[in-house]
Amino acid sequence: MLDAGGQYCHLIARKVRDLGVYSEVRPSDTPAAELAGRKGLIISGGPSSVYENGSPTVDPAIFNGGPAVLGICYGLQLMAHLLGGTVLKGEKGEFGLATLELDAPAGDPLFEDLPQQQQVWMSHRDLVTGLPGGFSVLGATSTCAVAAMAEPVRRLYAVQFHPEVVHTRRGTEILSNFLFNICRCERDWNPKHRVPSIEEDIRRVVGDRNVFFFVSGGVDSTVAYTICLRALGPDRVRGVYVDTGLMRDGETDFVRATFEELGAGGVEIDRAQDRFLAALTGVCDPERKRQIIGEQFLEEQERIIESHGLLDGHWILGQGTIYPDTIESGGTERAETIKTHHNRVAGVQKLLQAGRVVEPLSSFYKDEVRQIGLELGLPSKLLERHPFPGPGLAIRCLCAELEAAPVRTPDGFLMPIRSVGVQGDSRSYAPVLAIDPNGNNLHQAATELTNRIAGINRVITLVRGKAPLDQLRARPGSLSPERLDKLRRADAIVRRLSARSGFEDTIWQFPVVLIPLGSESSPDSIVLRPVDSVDGMTAQSAPIPDPLLHSISEEILAEPGLCCVFYDLTNKPPGTIEWE
Ligand code: XMP
Repeated sequence: MLDAGGQYCHLIARKVRDLGVYSEVRPSDTPAAELAGRKGLIISGGPSSVYENGSPTVDPAIFNGGPAVLGICYGLQLMAHLLGGTVLKGEKGEFGLATLELDAPAGDPLFEDLPQQQQVWMSHRDLVTGLPGGFSVLGATSTCAVAAMAEPVRRLYAVQFHPEVVHTRRGTEILSNFLFNICRCERDWNPKHRVPSIEEDIRRVVGDRNVFFFVSGGVDSTVAYTICLRALGPDRVRGVYVDTGLMRDGETDFVRATFEELGAGGVEIDRAQDRFLAALTGVCDPERKRQIIGEQFLEEQERIIESHGLLDGHWILGQGTIYPDTIESGGTERAETIKTHHNRVAGVQKLLQAGRVVEPLSSFYKDEVRQIGLELGLPSKLLERHPFPGPGLAIRCLCAELEAAPVRTPDGFLMPIRSVGVQGDSRSYAPVLAIDPNGNNLHQAATELTNRIAGINRVITLVRGKAPLDQLRARPGSLSPERLDKLRRADAIVRRLSARSGFEDTIWQFPVVLIPLGSESSPDSIVLRPVDSVDGMTAQSAPIPDPLLHSISEEILAEPGLCCVFYDLTNKPPGTIEWE
């Protein structure tokens, strides 16, 4: 895997391993001589444009007929550019589902046994408009004439779409065709039986030191803690749960009960609510919130480490960091920072550099972490918990500094609220569009609108409200205890009703977001953000059954101070799961 900076580089490498072929990630510009002898090379996607100064490149000698090459997204554009084709700089781009129409010659090995038309998933701005010499088109979509191309003599293949994500329905077969038909790889890698090798890694990294964890009650840190307990024994593993005041209703009790059941006996609860809330007073900017929470975590950690005598070099930090966390924090050499994960703040980076951190799950995805938890015998009620972000309700409680009104546009109301998104591999921070709930096929309309309108990354619709949209106002609102309580109550309603109806079990996650938009007497509103996902890297807005939507909105609007309930129709990309 040659890493050109894409969010999905490691996902591709892992898919290759899942197909039974050993793979490694290398910087994109690794000299061809160092890559000699590999059976195949894959160039990942990335946020750059081939025309930008300093954009990632590859050694052109890799195209000389040595290993077979597959370019993906930016990898396709780079291949075309370096071999004399034309790449057009796109303004708007294309994000989301598309239909690939094959135009491959009979016997083409990349699309062997695949249907003439297939769903693929696109995330790009630039486009290849002119083929390099010797290449032919293998497939196109309605907006992208070169969605797949090849030069079979030197075994050069490239696709504009992302075969590694689940929304490209036959993507795994395309990767498999590349590995086995084109590269002629052997199946030489077994992804099963993870637990013994993880335990071995833990013992190697930890040596004769002990490990302390800051646990959250989530799947990742609980699995990481449990596997360390198993690798090192109960005397060498300790845990502290820091109650930040940013957790959901009932969470601290749940954590206490979970660790009591695990029989570890080493987890204590540290109450730090007041200090977190004081540090966050008046802060609106999403990245700043994350930074402050990260720094406060570190301060609490340092205090606890000191007071527990964990500084003497015999202790190292254990963390439940999983693969997507490292990737979206710019974990690969070139990947852009989408958000700063609290496991990657400066203090932790220093510990990492000093070799004082163990992260047993950092190369796994959520589904794999759950399987590892099952192998460890953890109860499924814990393993099936929805993911919940470390910074907690802080990134679901949006703040504003100024008063502002919605703006009517031909497509709907442009709301004076900005949320974080991810577009073409980079982060966006853009206003939200509210569309008419009576329109047809709202999810499809949302995809079409976010593709067409450059200045937005998210589309919502009103479920129920106490005032018409044009009378709503964004008003200054911060992370106050009152607003967090309001959010906690709405979140508890959603969790109770969606668990009772069985809906919770059918989706990946159901964030409930508080936005500072409403009337004078009810200054805030709630956004429902249920999503389907496999790994959190991409997601689709999940349809909520009408009776559930009805009961949720009715109960939420019976709470004081809440004006409207909205429903987020946006897929990821372009809208991240959390609003931040
Ligand atoms: P986004 O919002 O980037 O989220 O689409 C992807 C997944 O990651 C979770 N998330 C986090 N998890 N610490 C975590 O442990 C964090 O700082 C964090 N931020 C986002 C999010 O809930 C979703 O499942």
